[in-house]
Amino acid sequence: MKSSLWREHVLPFTLLLGVLAAATFAGDYVLHRFNLVWVGRYMGIPGTLLIIGSLYYSLRKRKFVKAGDPKALLKMHEFGTWLGSLMVLIHAGIHFNAILPWLATVAMGVNVISGMVGKMLLNQSRQHVQGERAQYQLRGLSKSEVERAVFWDAVALGAMTQWRKVHIPIFIVFAVLALGHIFSIFLFWGWI
Ligand code: HEM
Repeated sequence: MKSSLWREHVLPFTLLLGVLAAATFAGDYVLHRFNLVWVGRYMGIPGTLLIIGSLYYSLRKRKFVKAGDPKALLKMHEFGTWLGSLMVLIHAGIHFNAILPWLATVAMGVNVISGMVGKMLLNQSRQHVQGERAQYQLRGLSKSEVERAVFWDAVALGAMTQWRKVHIPIFIVFAVLALGHIFSIFLFWGWI
């Protein structure tokens, strides 16, 4: 059971995060290699729009809107925020001039990871610990013995649940910081 939890859930999670990092470096490298750094500068706009569009799922979930299949919208939310974040990460590149956009980027990173933990690790791990508990009970262990046997898995599960709870508060931090960055850039460009 332990190995399948690793193979079926932890590994895809690590891979998807690794692909995000690798694609960021590859994208940044290509832009610099072909003197297209300016493209990266504007990539912040479609990336941001993609993330905003993906929030339609949250409106649907909270019943502010009625149209659309929630399951399909969740897929769209997961894919859209992942791709939008990739575009924003390429946009951020390896340029360090200002602190505000970097704080926004860190918040966005925590946001993406917390969402992925919720989707890829939490439910499966919960089932895993429940399965373990049931097995130990079947073997006739007492309640305290069962709790001792699953202790570390339960601790890990607790940490994941907390991590999942971070998703919405950190989104608010991300949104405020990103808005600050976008507002100041638009002001600088004379767009507002
Ligand atoms: C409408 C969307 C956006 C626009 C138009 C935009 C525009 C820009 C521009 C023009 C720069 C270059 C600033 C400079 O050279 O000093 C920049 C840098 C940056 N942006 Fe954005 N951006 C957008 C969205 C975002 C978002 C959502 C994030 C992060 C979550 C972000 C993170 C960054 C970072 C980390 C940098 C590099 C800062 C540095 O040089 O230290 N941007 N952005």
